[in-house]
Amino acid sequence: MCGIVGYTGNRTAAALLLEGLKKLEYRGYDSAGLALQQEGRLIIAKKAGSVADLESILEPGLDQNTVGIGHTRWATHGKPTDINAHPHCSCGDEIALVHNGIIENHQELKEWLATDQGHRFISETDTEVLAHLIEEFYEGDLLMAMRKAMKRVIGSYTVLALSSREPGRLVCTRQSSPLIIGLGENENLVASDITALLEHTRNTKILEDGEFAAITADTIEIIDADGKAIEREVFEVTWDLEAAEKGGFDHFMLKEIMEQPDAVRETMRQRIDHSSYKIQLEDLGFSAGELQAIEKFYIIACGTAYHAGLVGKNVIESLTGIPVEVDVASEFRYREPLLKKNQMVIVISQSGETADTLAALRLARQSDLKVLAITNVVGSSVSREADHVFYTWAGPEIAVASTKAYLTQLVALYLFALYLGQIRNSTKPAITEQIVEGLIALPGQLKAILAADSINRLKQYCRHLAGWDSAFFIGRNLDYPVAMEGALKLKEISYIHAEAYAAGELKHGPLALIIEGIPVIALATQKAVLDKTLSNIQEVNARGGAVFAITQEGFKDVVRQVDAVFYLPPVIDLLAPVLSAVPTQLIAYYAAVERGHSVDKPRNLAKSVTVE
Ligand code: F6R
Repeated sequence: MCGIVGYTGNRTAAALLLEGLKKLEYRGYDSAGLALQQEGRLIIAKKAGSVADLESILEPGLDQNTVGIGHTRWATHGKPTDINAHPHCSCGDEIALVHNGIIENHQELKEWLATDQGHRFISETDTEVLAHLIEEFYEGDLLMAMRKAMKRVIGSYTVLALSSREPGRLVCTRQSSPLIIGLGENENLVASDITALLEHTRNTKILEDGEFAAITADTIEIIDADGKAIEREVFEVTWDLEAAEKGGFDHFMLKEIMEQPDAVRETMRQRIDHSSYKIQLEDLGFSAGELQAIEKFYIIACGTAYHAGLVGKNVIESLTGIPVEVDVASEFRYREPLLKKNQMVIVISQSGETADTLAALRLARQSDLKVLAITNVVGSSVSREADHVFYTWAGPEIAVASTKAYLTQLVALYLFALYLGQIRNSTKPAITEQIVEGLIALPGQLKAILAADSINRLKQYCRHLAGWDSAFFIGRNLDYPVAMEGALKLKEISYIHAEAYAAGELKHGPLALIIEGIPVIALATQKAVLDKTLSNIQEVNARGGAVFAITQEGFKDVVRQVDAVFYLPPVIDLLAPVLSAVPTQLIAYYAAVERGHSVDKPRNLAKSVTVE
């Protein structure tokens, strides 16, 4: 998500840090900042916008400073503004730090620091809490203070800090977020991402979760949470810059598919109380009264986000009994929808900048309807214009084809539906428990789906698929929107013409197109309609279609009727779309690779569609 760089040595720190931050810009950013040590004090420069914007505000004469830290921010808590940009400082500006990740208990810590200890906060970020917390324990040794402070912190983080009282010294730690130390000649570097280091060194030491390091130009001291010294081997990086940006994967799309277990976990973080099965979405800002009064929802989105909306309709209706209409934004705008009091609009947009979605949002607000935005980009147009925002914390998505953002949109919709059910007393506690248990299991199940042997089986199938110019996706009930999403993904990057059909609709026309060998991807994950789906698979078989089924472990009858099968771990019908989307993403990806296409930047498409 955010990017971190640090330098200590005898070269100009500001120039090196800016250069490192620019290397991290490919991941997306909304603001940037630096802290430099200068004769017993810290110079802080930070700015909303690009690294070039930050560069433009730097005072001349900073080239004497040889120690500093830098950051590119991808906002999670607080809008992308100059104040919210990192570094954040302690009260006396003696300590400055940069942070990636989320501090889950920041509210509680902030209350303690502000009320009991008299600290002054100036930003809306969770990060600022860390600067004040470390200050509480600071007695001239930043490593010691950080070690003590982090014992009180819950969350995922990489933190890099410096103090005006310790010239030449950087201190860092990590928990579930990467941090790499780069070893140089009379200089050392730190970064959250190998891309920022490669130009300077290939020799690294990788910090593990819960470890701390103090770094000077000539020394690296690594300790564990109890202060015990740790010897770390040097790891030599062999990737080139392009491979490093993609985390060693061939394409961003594959990297982002692989990031899905973490993206889903992040989106649920802090929003589920595991012990009581309660969903905690009070932060959204809707009052209980407002949510109780809703008589109908409109979900409005485009493309992949629209497919998430189709799943959301089913989930909200079944958990709350409130009717939901789902619309493609470009249609909603021009069809004069019957908008009435007590209706609410949910817009879904990864980028938060899609022109049609934004126009639909404005139409809803002009009609005095409340709007909830589900988006991945803090500070995006959609997030600024909606009444309230549910952020999917998927991290920047770079490949044009949306994958991890889609999965997190689904999770957002499940959480919102459960929350509504809770507020309106419309979901039975046993059902809530079952769904919450299922949600908590998803990251682990996604990891299992993404294991190498399942992928190898899919690759084999994709070789067959890649030889065809046409394919079908079929499914019933919640498998139908997943089929639509699978077909869109295949079209978009492999350029194979793909049609999604509600499986029961085949016989009303498209069956005429089923010929010997034609690929048909059948989603058969819904227990409630499994027999019906199997009948439709038989209709395809009888015409010679080559059926590849995506189903659940334990659905034994499926394998007897198809050419190949991909098993998902057991999952309740309602949550199956989160798992079944993944093999369809991989099918699209490997078919596109097999056909030699530009996977991350398919022809004629853009990541952010800001034209109508
Ligand atoms: C397909 C894809 C697009 C987007 C659509 C909406 O893989 O990514 O269909 O889903 O352009 O974009 P957002 O979500 O940014 O509004």
